[in-house]
Amino acid sequence: MSKLNSLKSNYAVANRKKRLSRLVLEISKPRLEMVEIGCYAGLSTVLFAKRFEKVYAVDPWVNEYDPSDKSSYVFPMSEVEKIFDYHMQSFSNVTKIRKTSVEAAPLIEDESLDFVYIDACHQYENVLTDIKTWLPKIKPKRFIGGHDYQKPWVGVKQAVNEMFGKPDKIFRDSSWLKQI
Ligand SMILES: C[S@@+](CC[C@H](N)C(=O)[O-])C[C@H]1O[C@@H](n2cnc3c(N)ncnc32)[C@H](O)[C@@H]1O
Repeated sequence: MSKLNSLKSNYAVANRKKRLSRLVLEISKPRLEMVEIGCYAGLSTVLFAKRFEKVYAVDPWVNEYDPSDKSSYVFPMSEVEKIFDYHMQSFSNVTKIRKTSVEAAPLIEDESLDFVYIDACHQYENVLTDIKTWLPKIKPKRFIGGHDYQKPWVGVKQAVNEMFGKPDKIFRDSSWLKQI
């Protein structure tokens, strides 16, 4: 083989390896993307950030969203937001969206997410709105879930059951999960 041909063939091998490694990465490490609605100080967001390639963290960080939820009034949200920012320092895969659920939804493409986790205002109307707003954003056969499928949050249970019958699974921390 001439030097030129050998050079061409090595180049082709290198190119092939590069392309193949992209394919291997694609199938062995799926790029899972999710949204968390209601992040507060970021404790749950940290857990998601460790497992998902991309996390959109949606929260307006404004007090008084629900008089029946302590998180709504015990601490100034400006301070809670600072703690969230502190927790997120080591996660470059988290994009903070400082908006309400409904305001944030148009920023995310339809059928682009693997998972939506709802833990915002737990009143029936709000949970229903959050579910209806974010369902179109989820890829077919992927997942939606949330927190507090338990008393005293009857609104969460009512909205989830009304939309889905029942969740597929309820976890010990009262999170619910449904494959769509
Ligand atoms: C129960 S806390 C979230 C707790 C957090 N997921 C955790 O496990 O640590 C509820 C959060 O929902 C946020 N929230 C309230 N109304 C919202 C809305 N319309 N859209 C997005 N977030 C909202 C509040 O600012 C608050 O931070």
